[in-house]
Amino acid sequence: MAKVLVLNSSAKLKGSISRQLVDEFIELAKSNGHQHEFTIRDLAHDPVPVLHSGIVDAIRTKPDDLTPEQRTATALSEQLIGELKAADFIVIGAPIYNWSIPAALKAWIDQVTRIGQTFRYGGTGVEGMLGGKPALVILSRGGLYDSPERAAVDYQKPYLATVLNVIGLKPTFVTAEGSLMGEDAFTPRLAAARAAVAEAAASLK
Ligand SMILES: Cc1cc2nc3c(=O)[nH]c(=O)nc-3n(C[C@H](O)[C@H](O)[C@H](O)COP(=O)(O)O)c2cc1C
Repeated sequence: MAKVLVLNSSAKLKGSISRQLVDEFIELAKSNGHQHEFTIRDLAHDPVPVLHSGIVDAIRTKPDDLTPEQRTATALSEQLIGELKAADFIVIGAPIYNWSIPAALKAWIDQVTRIGQTFRYGGTGVEGMLGGKPALVILSRGGLYDSPERAAVDYQKPYLATVLNVIGLKPTFVTAEGSLMGEDAFTPRLAAARAAVAEAAASLK
């Protein structure tokens, strides 16, 4: 049995490729013979707040010195980090928006990337504190990023790889790209992404 934390960040409720693949993962994992437990967060439709001075001041304050107001300001951050720590496996649906990730997902990242909680500075530099737990990151993209020129303007996958590694997750990426490039481009890529998602769901223990 795995505790699975699922994050969706597409603004689209209907016709979203990343949501479709996330749903397929959940359905297949539910029927793979193990009793998994799912916590599902819709970051686009139940957004977490962007950082403001109250939160930033509070997360830079030692726990014992926090005022009641500061405890309130960091309560959601603590809850989100708690969900990450409790999970055995994380699934993230992440479209590319304007060469990067949706602001809704960035807001979650800003709430959970906290020194002393999810990363620290050790002898070798930044050390993630989430123990290398696996994260399946499902990327959806309208364009194709399969040439050096296109890859150079991809601020979605490299960014997510960096920040997830910083907090101590071990991301595996599945990419469904080319949804705006016509059926010939997209159909085989979507099929490959669906197969990779199905394989990940089948192997979840
Ligand atoms: C606001 C917005 C910005 C987008 N920016 C890009 C982009 O920079 N590059 C790209 O390849 N596709 C871009 N797209 C297309 C989406 O990445 C594509 O439609 C993808 O399938 C969206 O994920 P979803 O289907 O899960 O909603 C953009 C779409 C939207 C709505």
